[in-house]
Amino acid sequence: MFILIFSFLVFPLCHAAIFDIVNQCPYTIWPAAIPGGGSELEPGQNWTIFINPRMDDARIWARTGCTFNSSGYGRCETGDCDGLLECQTYGSSPNTLAEFTLNDFNNLDFIDISLIEGFNVPMEFSPIAGCNHAIQCSTNITEQCPDVLKTSGGCNNPCTVFKTDEYCCTSGNCKSTNYSNFFKGLCPNAYSYAMDDESNTFTCIGGTDYKVVFCPNNNATKSNPPPSSAASATFDIVNNCSYTVWAAAIPGGGRQLNNGEIWTISVNAGTTGGRVWARTGCNFNSSGHGSCETGDCKGLLECQVYGKSPDTLAEFALNQYANLDYIDISLVDGFNVPMDFSPTGGCARGIQCSTDIIGQCPAVLKAPGGCNNPCIVFKTDEYCCNSGTCKPTTYSKFFKGLCPDAYSYPKDDQSSTFTCPSGTNYKVVFCP
Ligand SMILES: *[C@@H]1O[C@H](CO)[C@@H](O)[C@H](O)[C@H]1NC(C)=O
Ligand SMILES: *[C@@H]1O[C@H](CO)[C@@H](O)[C@H](O)[C@H]1NC(C)=O
Ligand SMILES: *[C@@H]1O[C@H](CO)[C@@H](O)[C@H](O)[C@H]1NC(C)=O
Ligand SMILES: *[C@@H]1O[C@H](CO)[C@@H](O)[C@H](O)[C@H]1NC(C)=O
Ligand SMILES: *[C@@H]1O[C@H](CO)[C@@H](O)[C@H](O)[C@H]1NC(C)=O
Ligand SMILES: *[C@@H]1O[C@H](CO)[C@@H](O)[C@H](O)[C@H]1NC(C)=O
Ligand SMILES: *[C@@H]1O[C@H](CO)[C@@H](O)[C@H](O)[C@H]1NC(C)=O
Repeated sequence: MFILIFSFLVFPLCHAAIFDIVNQCPYTIWPAAIPGGGSELEPGQNWTIFINPRMDDARIWARTGCTFNSSGYGRCETGDCDGLLECQTYGSSPNTLAEFTLNDFNNLDFIDISLIEGFNVPMEFSPIAGCNHAIQCSTNITEQCPDVLKTSGGCNNPCTVFKTDEYCCTSGNCKSTNYSNFFKGLCPNAYSYAMDDESNTFTCIGGTDYKVVFCPNNNATKSNPPPSSAASATFDIVNNCSYTVWAAAIPGGGRQLNNGEIWTISVNAGTTGGRVWARTGCNFNSSGHGSCETGDCKGLLECQVYGKSPDTLAEFALNQYANLDYIDISLVDGFNVPMDFSPTGGCARGIQCSTDIIGQCPAVLKAPGGCNNPCIVFKTDEYCCNSGTCKPTTYSKFFKGLCPDAYSYPKDDQSSTFTCPSGTNYKVVFCP
């Protein structure tokens, strides 16, 4: 407990989080932020604000139908904040809300989209990188709004219209209603009524940067091909080790890579369960049959199946939820070769596990050519997490300490999954 409190005291030194607010709507919007103020965005424009760590109950929303005079006074049809261009207070409903609290419990950020003040503009609220929770409410709810909730520029929450406890939940004790179910059906990841916590609050590690996109589909449908299309991503697989490795990829196959050689593969959009790894100590005959000391895939040079542990893994799923690629380095199959897995452009975040873990491997985990994950050695639920609930262990902490960005045990998602916009190309470097 003392340690937890102490670690909290350190966070005020954290840097401010970036919020990139983008207008993809075909019309002008006046975004507002508490804290942050407000701005005017033509279609395609963006507004970047910086929000200090340890910020509670912050929100971002869109205003529509505004007119302001040159000193920033006026009024908006939806989301108006006492007539000011630069908001000092929350806006009036209906307004779709991106809500967040930064660096709270366990140094986590808590983020959500809420329809408790109704809906005015479709929204996506997502981490720019480093956390896999993108929240979308991209349907234009206004088009399907029940007559009784309709208002100019949006769709009211029933609490705003009926003001009863059934809808407003002032008693702190209420259930979903047919109206809240209407909102929930269209935006399953958003708050539809006050006690709707279960499926709607998402966490990211403190320090994450975010973007709020208004009318996310407008761009997605125009510029991003659906997963089924023929678009593909390029992976440059580079051997920077002083020794030969036999690179393997699912999908992709495999080939020998001498020091300095590069193998480029093309991976289809929509691929899930993709992996790249290095094999060491291999011998293949001229028809590509043989075996490897680490990473062997049933004796084939050109892999058709995943490799045998220990092997350091670059894992990926392309063009998934919110049109993002999800990438990670995993030590859940142990470690054989240091690795860097990074985008070659367009996405800032690369992942590194460049320490040579083999030299520091605990005796009980040592394997020829690598360092085993404890699950492989002990096969217990504590390490393998078959039950789906498990915690870090002394061994997982050993891996995490050397490679903080890599999966050290199966439930290590929070700090180990990274996202890039779909269409990004990547490079995997062995021995970076
Ligand atoms: C924001 O706008 C700037 C220039 O106007 C542009 O360079 C940048 O890519 C934009 N960012 C996003 C996320 O659209
Ligand atoms: C803008 O409107 C406010 C409030 O009505 C008024 O006090 C202010 O003088 C106006 N400014 C200009 C430049 O018209
Ligand atoms: C949503 O629907 C309303 C009502 O049909 C329309 O006025 C508005 O422009 C639509 N918004 C978007 C982003 O399509
Ligand atoms: C919800 O129930 C009320 C009363 O039973 C009814 O008048 C209303 O039309 C229903 N609304 C929806 C969206 O089904
Ligand atoms: C919108 O599409 C443009 C290309 O058409 C792209 O550069 C931009 O990053 C997209 N914005 C978002 C937020 O996805
Ligand atoms: C390579 O090894 C495989 C499996 O042992 C064998 O079937 C194949 O004939 C060998 N090819 C050559 C050219 O030696
Ligand atoms: C390759 O390794 C050398 C050290 O052996 C290092 O200086 C260099 O930056 C590495 N190159 C890449 C692309 O990682």
